[in-house]
Amino acid sequence: MYNSRIIGLGKYVPDHVVTNHDLSKIMDTNDAWIQERTGIKERRWIEKGSEDTSAVMGAKAARIAIERAGLTKDDIDFIVFATLSPDYYFPGCGVQIQDMLEMPTIGALDVRNQCSGFIYAISVADQFIKTGMYKNVLVIGAEYHSGGLDKTTRGRSVSVIFGDGAGAAVLTRTEDNAKGVLSSHLHSEGKHAEELVVDGPNIKRWVPEILEANDPDDISYYPYMNGQFVFKHAVSRFSEAIIEGLQANNLQKEAIDMLIPHQANLRISQFVQKKFGLREDQVFNNIQKYGNTTAASVIIALTEAWEEGKIKDGDLVVLAAFGSGFTWGSVVIKW
Ligand code: ACO
Repeated sequence: MYNSRIIGLGKYVPDHVVTNHDLSKIMDTNDAWIQERTGIKERRWIEKGSEDTSAVMGAKAARIAIERAGLTKDDIDFIVFATLSPDYYFPGCGVQIQDMLEMPTIGALDVRNQCSGFIYAISVADQFIKTGMYKNVLVIGAEYHSGGLDKTTRGRSVSVIFGDGAGAAVLTRTEDNAKGVLSSHLHSEGKHAEELVVDGPNIKRWVPEILEANDPDDISYYPYMNGQFVFKHAVSRFSEAIIEGLQANNLQKEAIDMLIPHQANLRISQFVQKKFGLREDQVFNNIQKYGNTTAASVIIALTEAWEEGKIKDGDLVVLAAFGSGFTWGSVVIKW
């Protein structure tokens, strides 16, 4: 029986920093509200005219992860790409990575699980490696939010939260079952799909129909979020997913060395930290700098924690996320 282990991590965020103060110039908001409710101080937004897209940023992060893994693009057997903001409605970004990195014609799969996207993607990679089908799998999470946000006062409760960026991990086969991805746990509850959604255009109501209606109040192409409803579900689902991961491995909460929560809201991370009795340095947060980068958030945070030397050999690392769908889950890793 094989196991999978992360051997390379990379991240890329656009250079363009947008502070809360910058936002207060284009909509009715302020630094105090945003920091108090979310913890966010600034985020990165792709500048107009930049070459960056979800796929382009994903490719930049992937090159770093592959190099740090000590591999070349020709060693990768499969690509898993998680995003809610793909370059095209179809095909997905995975195939663009195959092309951009000039890889052989390996398989490429896109994961559509929003903020839980990276958790789902890593689980998929892990299963392919555990069965012996693939040896090295490239997993990417990338998001280009800023192009699709309502950057007016009307959209302020959503648009101040999201940021752009990408992260990537290379998972490889190991025969040491005591190390690597110990387990992953995935969940969904589709009855809440419309609580956090981009509703249009979709296949039921396609672009010509929307244009024909010419309704100025139709803003269904912008993300909608029932913030407080989502918040309440997030805090309980995060906790459940972490407990499930610990129980599956016969571990107590004291065994956690580093928790990497999806960066949805600093208040959610702090709630979880308190609930599990973790110290501040045992929960990694960087939402202050990047906002919520959805499918990229867990992998950007994991990469940054590792780059800062906060994850060491033998550490128990728990990844957890909750988001639109609703979907949520956790991954338990022995580093
Ligand atoms: N600046 C100033 N005021 C604002 C802003 C803003 N940017 N946005 C909203 N307000 C106002 C509202 O108009 C409202 O005013 P009112 O009381 O006069 O009506 C007031 O602030 C409170 O608004 P709420 O939306 O109720 O604020 P809340 O405290 O719920 O915070 C937030 C909003 C930060 C979005 C919070 O609900 C949250 O974090 N929810 C969970 C997010 C999450 O976990 N998402 C999952 C992942 S995302 C994904 O999967 C894509």
